[in-house]
Amino acid sequence: MQEHLILGQVLCFDGDPRKLGLDTVHHESAGGVLIRDGMIADVGDGAALRAAHPSVPVTDHGSDVILPGFVDAHTHYPQTAMIASWGKRLIDWLNTYTFPEEARFDDPAYAADIAGRYLDLLTANGTTTVASYATIHPASVDAFFAAAQARNMRALTGKTCMDRNAPDNLRDTAQSAYDDSRALLQKWHGQDRLGYIITPRFSPTSTPEQLSALGLLWAEHPDCLMQTHLSEQVDEIAWVRDLFPDARDYLDTYEAHGLLGAKGLYGHAIHLKPREISRLSEVGAALIHCPTSNTFIGSGLFDMSLADKLPVGLATDTGGGSSFSMLRTMAAAYEIGQLRGEALHPAELLWRATGGSAEALHLSDKIGRVAPGFEADLCVLSLSSTPAIAQRSARATTIWEAIFPTIMMGDDRAITQTYVAGTPVTSVP
Ligand code: GUN
Ligand code: ZN
Repeated sequence: MQEHLILGQVLCFDGDPRKLGLDTVHHESAGGVLIRDGMIADVGDGAALRAAHPSVPVTDHGSDVILPGFVDAHTHYPQTAMIASWGKRLIDWLNTYTFPEEARFDDPAYAADIAGRYLDLLTANGTTTVASYATIHPASVDAFFAAAQARNMRALTGKTCMDRNAPDNLRDTAQSAYDDSRALLQKWHGQDRLGYIITPRFSPTSTPEQLSALGLLWAEHPDCLMQTHLSEQVDEIAWVRDLFPDARDYLDTYEAHGLLGAKGLYGHAIHLKPREISRLSEVGAALIHCPTSNTFIGSGLFDMSLADKLPVGLATDTGGGSSFSMLRTMAAAYEIGQLRGEALHPAELLWRATGGSAEALHLSDKIGRVAPGFEADLCVLSLSSTPAIAQRSARATTIWEAIFPTIMMGDDRAITQTYVAGTPVTSVP
């Protein structure tokens, strides 16, 4: 049995503070987390835990805050090296920057190199679980899962399927998408901490036949998640209308092919019609908000009040998103909220980046909370990581006032330690 006691401020959420209220968030100003064999065994007052476990090794994080590791619910790891590409909107951006970069992943060595680089950037930013798109190449899925497995991370991905409106070297077929996805799912799903996600990129790059084939695969493997993009940009929605003239709306292009369900993750979901919101809510599907992407590519302002009706996760959407940091992502979510007239509370921002995303990924019984029985994926946050942040948090009179400057101005310098299944992870220099 391996035990380790870590001390610091601790923030524990019982659930979504938007629904349950702030009283359900517990703050231990001198708290502790007892880790046993990669799991959280106990949480509480630091001195009491220390007295109860006198022979357990201790790491004292001082006044840093121990939080669940961040959960990034929608990313594209193959876009790591082309993040922050200038001057395009969605469809041009895909054709100009994204597809040429994704074509490089037919080289397994390149895929392995980027997968490792990407996961190290994530843990340096306090992110311990990610749901990523891979590329069309099965080897890009193998590379990602192998890199996550080597790091003992809880991670999810799937082969990105496209059989039209993409370059020749990035197209599969309805049949090969089904066959390759099925083989990868059988190989990886449920191995260690890994999960396979059935991944049609979005309706414009799949024929109805391919969407149906992937809908069938999902029906055959209902325990898997399915991820795709929905209603990100106005031009994209008009294109979907041309490509699927019989569809009632964008969501219907998925619904008609067996791709709407409780385990569906719909990225962006900015410009939804009332029928789409009703259907998504009825089935209990999850929306994934990608705020830095939505401002960077100029897509629009997500409506966070949808979280009253259905699960909403938070995500970087690297490299349409402009950051690997979930702190930066929370800041962008706050700014988008302000532009829509709603100031999101720091508790809600932190919840979306942890337990909220875990709920969207159907992992809320395993990760996303600092509570006994959960996996010890943790991040430790300094509230004074730069002079600008330190001088502001020094004035704080509440934990929320102390943490908000780090949410708004923090980056990887604020992450003083990340724990993956209880093991401290060395940050990228
Ligand atoms: N829609 C289809 N593919 C993508 C992608 O790679 N990034 C973003 N932001 N939107 C998409
Ligand atoms: Zn995306």
